[in-house]
Order: sequence, then structure tokens, then C-alpha cells
Amino acid sequence: MKTITLGNNGPEVSRLGLGCMGMSDFYTGHGTDEAGSIATIHRALELGVTFFDTAEIYGPFTNEELVGRALGGRRDEVVLATKFGFIQHLGDGSRGLDGRPENARLALEGSLKRLGTDYIDIFYQHRMDPKVPIEDTVGALAEFVAEGKIRHIGLSEAAPETIRRAQAVHPIAALQTEYSLWSRDPEAEILPTVRELGIGFVPYSPLGRGFLTGTIRSLDQLDEKDFRRSNPRFEGENLEANIRIVEQVDAVARELDAKPGQVALAWLMAQGDDIAPIPGTKRISYLEENVAADALTLSDAQLAQLDGVAAPQGDRYPDMSSVNR
Ligand SMILES: NC(=O)c1ccc[n+]([C@@H]2O[C@H](COP(=O)([O-])OP(=O)(O)OC[C@H]3O[C@@H](n4cnc5c(N)ncnc54)[C@H](OP(=O)(O)O)[C@@H]3O)[C@@H](O)[C@H]2O)c1
Repeated sequence: MKTITLGNNGPEVSRLGLGCMGMSDFYTGHGTDEAGSIATIHRALELGVTFFDTAEIYGPFTNEELVGRALGGRRDEVVLATKFGFIQHLGDGSRGLDGRPENARLALEGSLKRLGTDYIDIFYQHRMDPKVPIEDTVGALAEFVAEGKIRHIGLSEAAPETIRRAQAVHPIAALQTEYSLWSRDPEAEILPTVRELGIGFVPYSPLGRGFLTGTIRSLDQLDEKDFRRSNPRFEGENLEANIRIVEQVDAVARELDAKPGQVALAWLMAQGDDIAPIPGTKRISYLEENVAADALTLSDAQLAQLDGVAAPQGDRYPDMSSVNR
């Protein structure tokens, strides 16, 4: 597996990371096969994946515990990323944005404990808190860096102006934002901004929450509580319309004797050497397929064909007010 360095100051990571969220939350089957999830993390290590992504809100908490257990004695071989800001530790511990420095510190202490480590490689603010100036939050994160408790600072779904303000306080190693063949909004302003500032880019949901693999054709395939049931792109007419995107990706995949999900990942990796996507899975078979995308080369004609896939129908979240803020 190739490696890249995230931005000017970030860590060196495998070109493809592993998103661990779906092992414990959000998607159908989460939490049902802990042994399978741990085996997937171990297989990822064997295949050269060194970049693992979790967050305190996944579960909540259980995903960090799982990742911590799975990585065990191999902690120093990996770049471990987690996120805070969705849990109000200063109140009753309920969900809600909280970017206050005291909340960030309580979150960090919890994450360190659950992950079984004394440092986190990238500590991301999961979403910006409009009640707290970004300078205050990043100021606290800079203290954690000085204390050696985190190595790098990350932001997730921050808007260009927020990224600039944050970078003025302390170097930001990575921005984690949704980016894939059906979520191309970062191309307009966000990618140029992070490139100008020397910040790495980590596309989340690079497989379109599984949709771009072509395996989701109907909501009936998803459990009642699966997050995608409330995602506008997966609803009724939108889902039906969006299937043509998968068909266009599949046309390229057939030329290469590959899978559409692999083509979606290869297209993302072709967008720049500063991009490290983190496809998520809890299964070894999917992981192996995704990692194999690292060896897939798309021709200029295929890249152009993929650039032309239909725009998606439906927003990527039911409420878009908390992203790009
Ligand atoms: N910063 C943020 O706000 C944010 C938001 C969302 C996600 N994330 C992070 O990004 C990571 C990846 O995003 P994601 O998990 O939302 O979406 P994703 O990687 O686009 O897709 C994951 C889904 O695709 C399925 N899948 C994976 N590989 C497959 C394959 N080869 N063939 C068929 N299906 C396949 C998985 O199934 P199985 O579950 O059955 O394996 C899962 O349902 C997450 O794990 C999380 O760490 C961050």
C-alpha cells in the first residue's frame, strides 16, 4: 500500500485508511459481530493500512473501545484519528455540539482511556460549534499538542473561512469532509483552500455510504435504524434517480474488470496526492476489495467519463446546517 503525507505538517498515512464507524453505529449490522470487526482491523494492518478513523460519538464510545482493543500492542504502528464535539461532557453527557475548551479536554481524556493510549495522532473537531469561536477551540487543541496528548489537529466539515481562522492559531494537519463521486462540493472552495494552506484532505464516506458499490438498490435492504433511511439521497425517487450514477461508474468498472466501489476509490485517489480516503467496512472481504483499489489505474478517458457522472438528487444530510460551517 502506498503512503502519503497529510499536508505540510501532518503524519504519513497509508493511501487508504479504514473507517471504523460502521462497526459500532449508523449502518445495518453494526455491533453484531465484534470478532469480525476486530479481524477486519487486523487484516487491514496485514495489508499495510496504517490509518484508522473513529470518534467518541460512534456508539457512543463503543467504537473507540473496539478500535483500542483491536490495535492493542500495535498502537505505535498506526496513525489513530478520533473526533470530539458532539457530546456535552460538561452537562448531562447528552448529544449536542460543544466546542468549549473544557469540553474538548474532557472528551480527550475519555478518548485516550477508551483507545488505551497516551496520545492521539489526529484529534478532529467533529463539527464547528457556532457558539464558540474557532480560535478558542483550536487554542485548547494547541495546548493538548504542547502537552503531547495529541500529535495533530484536525477539523471536520469546516468552511473555508473557519479553516483559515483555525490555521492562524495553530497548523491544522487535516480536514475530514465528505467527498466522493456523488459528493463533489469540496472541489469548489474547500480543496483549493486546504491546498493553499498545506492541509491534508481526508474524504469520508468515499463510497457514498456504500451506495457507489452498487450493492444498495432499495431501502428494504437496510435495518429500521440505519442512518441511510433518513438520508435524502436514499429516499424514494431520489434513490431511483441516483442509481444511474452507479450504472455510470459500473460501466467503467466493467472495462477494468473491477468493482464500482474500487473505481470510486481510484477516482478519488486520482484527485491528488494530498488525499487519503477512509472507506468504512466491518467485513474482511470488502476491506480486501477496497484496498485492491490502490493498484487500479484509470485512464484519462475513464477519469473524464467519471467526471461526467450525473449529479445526485437529494442533500447528503437531512439537515445541512451543521456542515461547511
Ligand atoms: N467526519 C464525519 O462527520 C464522518 C461522517 C461519516 C463517516 N465518517 C468516517 O468515514 C468512514 C467511512 O465513511 P462511511 O462508513 O460513512 O461510508 P463509506 O465508506 O462510503 O461506505 C461504507 C458502507 O459501504 C459498505 N461497503 C464498504 N466496502 C464495500 C464493498 N467493497 N462492497 C460493498 N459494500 C461495501 C459498508 O458495508 P459494511 O458496513 O457491511 O461493511 C458500509 O455500509 C466512517 O467509517 C467514519 O470513520 C466521518
